[in-house]
Amino acid sequence: MLRVDQAGEYGATRIYAGQLAVLGDSVPASRLIARMASQEQRHLRHFDALLAERGVRPTLLQPLWSIAGHALGAATALISPQAAMACTAAVEDEIDRHYQDQLGALGAEEPALGATIAEFQADEREHRDRAVEAGAEESVGYPLLYSAIRAGCRVAIALSKRI
Ligand SMILES: [Fe+2]
Ligand SMILES: [Fe+2]
Repeated sequence: MLRVDQAGEYGATRIYAGQLAVLGDSVPASRLIARMASQEQRHLRHFDALLAERGVRPTLLQPLWSIAGHALGAATALISPQAAMACTAAVEDEIDRHYQDQLGALGAEEPALGATIAEFQADEREHRDRAVEAGAEESVGYPLLYSAIRAGCRVAIALSKRI
């Protein structure tokens, strides 16, 4: 669980870095993206610490998520700020589902970890809502973009659990 969560939060920081690399601080969306990015940094630091504390090795796929996350962020930002928001909506919906599954699997076990996951899940839902408010659904080809990115996230989650 910790390995895949750390991988996911790392991927999120890379997506936002890619978007900000393209958008800079030139558009209204930049402020929102920068704020979400700093929350992802906080999530990542927390999982980094938990991995170290419990002797869990990070996913071997981290270099791949670095490139793929940055590329996904940059590519969507190049399409439009709305497409960048569509990316966030898709990723966060998938992460919301992933954290929900983990909370179900944990049940009453590991209450501190459960509380952390629930807190981060609330942040991710908020990111999704802000992205929709900022025009995610107005992006060109939204349904296709949304479902392709969600599918990609599902593959990344499945791989990061195993490798
Ligand atoms: Fe996060
Ligand atoms: Fe997020």
